[in-house]
Amino acid sequence: MPNPSEILGVIASPRRVAVIGAGYVGIPTAVVLAHLGHHVTLAERDATRRNSLLAGLSPIMEEGLDDLLVPTLQSGRLQIVEKAADAAGAAEIVFLCVATPQGDDGHSDLSFIDAVSREIADVLPAGAIVVNKSTVPVGTAQRVADLLGRRDVTVVSNPEFLREGFAVYDSFNPERIVVGAPSSAIGHQVADLFAPLRAQVVMTDETTSELTKYAANAFLAAKLSFANTMSRLCDALGGNVDDLSLGMGLDSRIGRSFLRPGPGWGGSCLPKDTAALVAIAHDAKVDISIVEASISSNHAQQAHLVNAVRDTIGGKLDGAVVSVWGLTFKAGTSDRRDSPALEIVELLLAAGASVRGFDPTVAADATDADLHGIGTFASVHDAAAGSDVILVLTEWPQFALVNFEELATVVRQRHVVDARNLLSMRDVRAAGFSYRGLGRR
Ligand SMILES: NC(=O)c1ccc[n+]([C@@H]2O[C@H](COP(=O)([O-])OP(=O)(O)OC[C@H]3O[C@@H](n4cnc5c(N)ncnc54)[C@H](O)[C@@H]3O)[C@@H](O)[C@H]2O)c1
Repeated sequence: MPNPSEILGVIASPRRVAVIGAGYVGIPTAVVLAHLGHHVTLAERDATRRNSLLAGLSPIMEEGLDDLLVPTLQSGRLQIVEKAADAAGAAEIVFLCVATPQGDDGHSDLSFIDAVSREIADVLPAGAIVVNKSTVPVGTAQRVADLLGRRDVTVVSNPEFLREGFAVYDSFNPERIVVGAPSSAIGHQVADLFAPLRAQVVMTDETTSELTKYAANAFLAAKLSFANTMSRLCDALGGNVDDLSLGMGLDSRIGRSFLRPGPGWGGSCLPKDTAALVAIAHDAKVDISIVEASISSNHAQQAHLVNAVRDTIGGKLDGAVVSVWGLTFKAGTSDRRDSPALEIVELLLAAGASVRGFDPTVAADATDADLHGIGTFASVHDAAAGSDVILVLTEWPQFALVNFEELATVVRQRHVVDARNLLSMRDVRAAGFSYRGLGRR
């Protein structure tokens, strides 16, 4: 696996590259390409994100990103600009890394892709390649080509598979690079940008490349929904899901990752990408019930957890105080887009509970709209004060180190529901709390 310091500026034939959109995908993409030796211009229309980057600070929480950003900016190979057209005007290859959120009907909302395509259409140099790195539905390479209206420009699909929280590692160590292009010569121009990373390249057509990203995410969602269902079955029958997952996952055909039960999958990709794949299949009149079942099973998991909290405190949520630990969709990120924790918070509030939240990435007394007016606190200790039950929703490792004996004196009732199977049930019970995990007793 390459180490960033070994591959600094190693590329034999540097290219002029533009990256449009400085988000979870655009920043790592731009940093890796500049680090390898390409001349990169990153366009971001949001002034806060842009100014943060210019100051050498990543506007998104990703381990190791700041350490790479500063030397990359100092090398002069990474420029930050506001306008997509200013980045694309001199570029040989332009990566579109803008958001593709879920639209009202489940289809992807392509308005950012469309807008950038219009912005850059007239300035692209002859022979340029435009790369859809955003997750986009089948047919988007053609859609962008139509919007560009340039016979001398080619559009290529190159979906991104990085994991939030591991973006730097994954960007330098991709398990595969999928490129969908009208010819392999064009496709290889894109794949060759990343050649020093020595990743396996899957060269294919645009349709297959676009579909591969959705297929991968739908499969991961199905795997998680399967694990959640098994945890519910273990609860009902008295089994142990940790042992079950190990027993299943050691089969190399299955694999161990994504078999841990949790509060339901969420984040900025799996919910919108499974919804988009369902919409794509419906349009194509292809049965997609296997993915639809994963989605409904995910909602069932959240309802199951709310019921578990209700049962734990004696059958009534109305008037109860729930201390929620973790609000991001997973640990290691500050991203709360489509966080299952916030969906469960909404269900608790609707049932009449009040919520005291703590997350290491959320300030005390935060008032962001997605927090639904819950109280947020500076520590788990403060968030637990006066609560009837503690509900662990994000797997922040520090929660496993909390001293429950200290908490026992500040809560109103001693109950814990651990939706990540993170805590030591022995320690929690030894401090006088009831403990309920998922599929473990
Ligand atoms: N977040 C992930 O982990 C991840 C992983 C793989 C793929 N993806 C896909 O990558 C795409 C981007 O996701 P993200 O999470 O990085 O999004 P993001 O919202 O964090 O970043 C997109 C950025 O693009 C900027 N932008 C939008 N229009 C612009 C324009 N016209 N000019 C300049 N800047 C513009 C926005 O201001 C924003 O900062 C999506 O399609 C997503 O599905 C995301």
